[in-house]
Amino acid sequence: MINIAIDGPSGAGKSTIAKIVAKTLGITYLDTGAMYRAVALYVVNCGKNPSSEEDVKPLLNDINISYITDGNEKFICLNGVNVSQDIRRHEMSKYASEVSKIPAVRLFLVEMQRKIAAAEDVVLDGRDIASFVLPNSEFKFYLTAKDTVRAKRRYDELVAKGQQVTYEQILDDVRERDLNDMKRDFAPLVKTADAFEIDSTDMSLTQVADAILNRIKEIQKDSETKISNGEAATPIKSVDSQVNKPIKNKKSKPKHRWFYKGLAAFVRWVMGAVWITKIYFKDNFPKKSKAVVICNHYSALDPCVIISKLLGKNGNVVMKNEITKCQFVANIAEELGAIPIKRGEADVNAIKKVLGALNKNRPVLIFPEGTRNKSNSKEFLPFKQGVATFAIKAKAPIVPMLYYKKTGIFKRNKLMVGAPFWLDGFYNKNIGDVREDATQNILKKMQELRVEMDILVEQCRGSKKRYLRYKKNQSKELCSNVGNGRKK
Ligand code: DC
Repeated sequence: MINIAIDGPSGAGKSTIAKIVAKTLGITYLDTGAMYRAVALYVVNCGKNPSSEEDVKPLLNDINISYITDGNEKFICLNGVNVSQDIRRHEMSKYASEVSKIPAVRLFLVEMQRKIAAAEDVVLDGRDIASFVLPNSEFKFYLTAKDTVRAKRRYDELVAKGQQVTYEQILDDVRERDLNDMKRDFAPLVKTADAFEIDSTDMSLTQVADAILNRIKEIQKDSETKISNGEAATPIKSVDSQVNKPIKNKKSKPKHRWFYKGLAAFVRWVMGAVWITKIYFKDNFPKKSKAVVICNHYSALDPCVIISKLLGKNGNVVMKNEITKCQFVANIAEELGAIPIKRGEADVNAIKKVLGALNKNRPVLIFPEGTRNKSNSKEFLPFKQGVATFAIKAKAPIVPMLYYKKTGIFKRNKLMVGAPFWLDGFYNKNIGDVREDATQNILKKMQELRVEMDILVEQCRGSKKRYLRYKKNQSKELCSNVGNGRKK
């Protein structure tokens, strides 16, 4: 049985390419995104909330998904009605992304997808095909492209269908969906280690389809050669079990792991309890997804709060190598997810560990200033270039966070988690050529966050409510200015 998995973010061209591949090979194409869209359509038609598990779960019993086959293509039917047009309405993309976060929905649809794949040769496109639906598939592809290019493609597609949308709106939607799909806890969008990645930013459809078809031929040829040589074809590992595995350094594995684990849990709790900090916009923090999280810090205790309150067991933190001087501390730090790095040199081991963690969908916390700001000034210390390197190499979003300098003994510490951003325009380039510019971009984002934090703390006296009201008024003012400008 041939099962070809094509995963990737929205707008990367998966469905068009998957159709070409299926047609060329004379096999079926299954659009798994359409299944999530059909569930979303049913939920919305019932007047229920697509992001509420309580609303959605009971409806699954009433949903019957079937297909009408036309040539190599399958058209989706919801309770017997062909809904292949309805599910393409723009707002359905967002609703589909919301229902797709609900584990019960995923299990319901994944079971169907596996059944279809077991019964016939099929090309499936989606987000979790290689990692979750068919981890043993021999043919795994990860198709991606710059978000701006993906948004433009989606925009052109919707405009051609007569839908009223703006490019900016689509770009925002694409970015939000990327985050939703990559950040969800259960079966997130992930590039598995054994998937063949294609960046279609500057490629035509034919070039991408050819790349996939050639790769399929190569894999088939390779396995035929192995069989004719009497060698067993390489067993395809299940990548399912590789996702989210914590990073472990075998050499330094302490003898009494349970003891250090317990101690680390206690330290984590104490850290959060002692250094009381108000955290704003916690939801922006990536839970179990690839992201380089960056932050400034004034006190040696500031990082402790992030480890305790935000990172938990799901992520790693890059720390000075000096912590490994004492084995006892090093053992606890390891359990807290620390990746020690030698400063001032290219520490290949640490770089590998950071990239490994990112590729396993773990957020990695890095302090781009390299040390705490002892001068207490609002100016950042010069940024090191490691953050840019990691984010570009792992194609990971960056989540900026900012500590506000505490001004009085009884004042609470304040930390703001900013919106994630990507280093658009820097991927697939020689790191050495772009590292400096990318670092400047990162610094600019942190300076912008600093301005926001000052408004929140100084103008809005630390009240999130007041800050949100301020932002709302500001955007209203901006809209009316733009409107006035047009009238003139
Ligand atoms: O590919 P699409 O845009 O039609 O998919 C709609 C949504 O469905 C997408 O935002 C994420 C979700 N989806 C998923 O979670 N897993 C899949 N295998 C396919 C789609």
